[in-house]
Amino acid sequence: MSFRVASRLATLPPPATIAMAARARELRSTGVDVISLALGQPDFSSPQEAVEAAYQAGLEGNTGYPPIAGQKPLIDAIIRKFKRDNNIDATPERIMVANGGKQVIFNAFMATLDPEDEVIVPAPYWVSYPLIAQMFGAKAIEVPTREEDGFRPDPDAFRAAITPKTRWLVLNFPNNPTGAILERRDLEAIADVLRAAPHVMVMSDEIYEHLTFDGKKHLSLLEVAPDLADRILIINGMAKAYAMTGWRVGFACGPAPLIKAMISVQGNATSGICTLAQAGSVAALDGGMERIQMMRETYQKRRDKMIEFLKDIPGVTCATPEGAFYVYPGIAALMGKKTPQGRVLDTDIAFAEALLEEAHVATVPGSAFGLSPYLRLSCAASDEQLEEASRRLAHFVKELRSA
Ligand SMILES: Cc1ncc(COP(=O)(O)O)c(C=O)c1O
Repeated sequence: MSFRVASRLATLPPPATIAMAARARELRSTGVDVISLALGQPDFSSPQEAVEAAYQAGLEGNTGYPPIAGQKPLIDAIIRKFKRDNNIDATPERIMVANGGKQVIFNAFMATLDPEDEVIVPAPYWVSYPLIAQMFGAKAIEVPTREEDGFRPDPDAFRAAITPKTRWLVLNFPNNPTGAILERRDLEAIADVLRAAPHVMVMSDEIYEHLTFDGKKHLSLLEVAPDLADRILIINGMAKAYAMTGWRVGFACGPAPLIKAMISVQGNATSGICTLAQAGSVAALDGGMERIQMMRETYQKRRDKMIEFLKDIPGVTCATPEGAFYVYPGIAALMGKKTPQGRVLDTDIAFAEALLEEAHVATVPGSAFGLSPYLRLSCAASDEQLEEASRRLAHFVKELRSA
């Protein structure tokens, strides 16, 4: 039997990070001490109250098929969360729960995109937006941001990118990979662009909302522009702020007809979300903000440390992230240089590969996020690992020669 994948998969580019992750594993298995700053995974444990609530739910027999959109206690907790954190009044028909923020995106794109539709994605971006859009035959229209602007998007660039085929504008702030956040004036300017383009929906991925620094607070587009409520889909989830990546619980708040269509996609895909994970998520959402505050302070200290290290490395630039848990240093001045082992660093992919092979630090090259030449370094690692990785990076750069 000859095996053939569907054409919608055949056109998907291979993820830029897979080869790198495999090589890091291979090096480790031969005893090499590889430090990985490649993962977008909090290095904290999930809240104890979430674990206990999930266990209790199992003992109490909360183990049957759930409603596809989510169980009522979780929908109610999410409604409380939107009021508390975003000053948004949501109703149950505007909410759905999914297997992670990623499945919310998948549901939304599957429910709305036809081949040749366009999705505007500011670059750099989290890899899944363009990849999922492409699975449905749609085109990702990349709108680059600039390091000089702190990677904040230019509303005029959005205006110029909108065509009659545009279905979605994707916003992800605090941003993965840059840590940029949007201020009220940025959101107001974007809302003005959207008011002039009534056919465009907005996907606002706010999964890093609680991880903001220097006393800054995340603002939701919906809070700033409530008149656009029938066009804004907010994506959020338990993964980042609650360190619950493996529980696979994400949620959405959006226009009721869109949520209904997304529920129908999900009904055919997963029949809803693990009941124990839902019970745990209720406990986490209602569990107070102290843990989040502690994580935010820890990430901020690590960010400060990384920025301090990076600014002393000649040829490396770095905008200060205002949120999330990554730094995104620029390496343009190092392009074309040669390593002691003779590798020529003509792209950020070549740089990341050489850094892994010769200095044993795993990172993700900016090419994976659509803006080069950069590296994404995750601060979800211990102080010791961050210090040692920075030392290795500094030494690696110091040894580079002109090609
Ligand atoms: C910006 C962004 N959105 C969504 C997700 C997906 O989160 P989840 O684990 O809830 O699917 C991630 C995960 O890395 C992310 O970085």
